[in-house]
Amino acid sequence: MKIVPFVHEGLGNSSYLVELEKGQALLVDPDRSVQRYLKAAEARGWAITHVFESHLHADFVSGALDIRAATGAELFVPAAATVRFPHRAVEAGDAVPVAGGTITTIASPGHTPEHTSYVLRAEGMPPALFSGGSLLVGGAARTDLISPEMTDRLTRSQFRTITRAFADLPNETLLLPTHGGGSFCSAGSCGERTSTLGQERATNPLLKFGSEEEFAAWFPTTFPAAPAYFFRMRPVNQEGARLRSQIPQPPALEPAEFDQLRPRALVIDARPQAEFMAGHIPGSMSNAFRDAFATWLGWLVPGGRELLFVLGEEPLERVLDECLLVGYERFAGVLAGGMSAWTGAGLATSWAGLTDAAGARRLLLEGAVALDVREPNEFADGHIPGARHIPLGELERRADELPRDRPILTTCGHGERSATALSILERLGFGPLTNLGGGFEGWQAAALKVER
Ligand SMILES: [Fe+2]
Repeated sequence: MKIVPFVHEGLGNSSYLVELEKGQALLVDPDRSVQRYLKAAEARGWAITHVFESHLHADFVSGALDIRAATGAELFVPAAATVRFPHRAVEAGDAVPVAGGTITTIASPGHTPEHTSYVLRAEGMPPALFSGGSLLVGGAARTDLISPEMTDRLTRSQFRTITRAFADLPNETLLLPTHGGGSFCSAGSCGERTSTLGQERATNPLLKFGSEEEFAAWFPTTFPAAPAYFFRMRPVNQEGARLRSQIPQPPALEPAEFDQLRPRALVIDARPQAEFMAGHIPGSMSNAFRDAFATWLGWLVPGGRELLFVLGEEPLERVLDECLLVGYERFAGVLAGGMSAWTGAGLATSWAGLTDAAGARRLLLEGAVALDVREPNEFADGHIPGARHIPLGELERRADELPRDRPILTTCGHGERSATALSILERLGFGPLTNLGGGFEGWQAAALKVER
């Protein structure tokens, strides 16, 4: 039996396509970009017959319904998730026969109350534990995404889950978690995405805690900030997402038509940040298309907002996939001919400064304020001397902390989050604005002074 992992680098998540006998396959925790699963299965001659959901996801819209629509696969969802679409509800201890083996379910609350893990037992291979957001490689998933009142209880559940729920499984059990390194859904995980129970029993620091009390006091202090959209996804996944085939594609719009829709829709400019600085539509949001595109879209744009797109080389289908992944489905249009068509039509265009480390240093000496929009741990690790710190996710709410009578230099790790920050500040009327291309990494490479 083969296991094909699919990783979304930006979300830090994995889903798994698993070969069964008789040309069948099962899928665990699929996200909404379902073409990749369907293509992988088709290329191998497998029919996807079963889809298992470990929990109601907070960080993406599930692709389970799209998979069923495409394949007729049966959906297995924890009963306590109380989803409102047809499914097979699973309870702890259930055994689901699959071709050539059995899936058994283990209650593993903590990351969410309904969280369920699945163990595949089949001839000729060690058991495979699909642990979702319970036990991760080097960590466990966060427990604060339901409500502040629930966090302590869920943290204690998570402790009992990771220390006891899998105790009967042997060391050679494959550990195949959904959340992983880089995920805002997890805490304390490292680079590897899969492991074995034996490896985790030997090395996972969370399994070294002596008491639940100690764990409950410490674990929540390790969580990163939660992107705003995390609190919108559970209800969407509970209700059941709309099928991709029911969501209209955005039309390609001539500049004048595109311009007419700007009062009601937000323009997302997905080009590289340097192209944004060189000329963009006033009021547009820079969100360069990269692994983190979906996370920042979901963090900064209100749910349900209608979107317009300015693209360069970025493939529209992939941009739409990332929008759909975090729940945006209202696509007003794409600018036909891109930014050159816009400027060619003589429509209003804005520019912003772009500089390197040496130029940034000059601007600061001349009185500009540096705004660093990275996460607190990154800022604490080292930053431009005197920089103000407002994490990007808080910028809109806290922009009043910034001066309106001085130039602002926006900075982050490489220059992409800071470009988004610049676009937000421009919309709020701040300026003049300059982005530090290359970010703090470029600043360090230029051997300039660092404050810690
Ligand atoms: Fe999760």
